[in-house]
Amino acid sequence: MSEYIEPMFAVPIFHLYAEDWDRKKESLLDISRKQKFRKDVGEYVKSDFRAPKADWSVIEPLIEDELRKFKDQVNIDLKVDAFWFERAGKGDQHLLHNHGAQGFSAVMYIEYDPKEHTPTQFVSPFDNIIGWVDIYSPRDIRSGSVIFFPSFVHHYTLPCDSDKERLILSWNMK
Ligand SMILES: [Fe+2]
Repeated sequence: MSEYIEPMFAVPIFHLYAEDWDRKKESLLDISRKQKFRKDVGEYVKSDFRAPKADWSVIEPLIEDELRKFKDQVNIDLKVDAFWFERAGKGDQHLLHNHGAQGFSAVMYIEYDPKEHTPTQFVSPFDNIIGWVDIYSPRDIRSGSVIFFPSFVHHYTLPCDSDKERLILSWNMK
């Protein structure tokens, strides 16, 4: 028998720093330069989400170490079923959205200056009993950071307030 106060539920986020990042970053920048970025209707940020994608065979070797680390933690055999780059210039932002009801999603921060840019902002799926909306902002994000989160969690980005572009690679796993 015990008295306690503890959270009944929790939503995990995984943050890790990519290994051998300088090499991977150069390769990802090379690949991203070949992609056709555009702002889709209703979007305020550029991506190749609905454009022809880079070949998975060139992307996979650049994220496989981080995928392995993540899978070792969750112990679920998840397969990547979508991936895309997103590029934010000054004033660009990604409005509130989620990545579907099932699985995990990831964001790998490629061009990211912690002094100039802000990380993905996550919205609590639970109502706060006092009435506020709880926003979670991952800490210690830098170029080479990778975060994994449940795809159902709504999130957004704040408008880019920098002349430096912010570039990420994102993917979904089920
Ligand atoms: Fe997203």
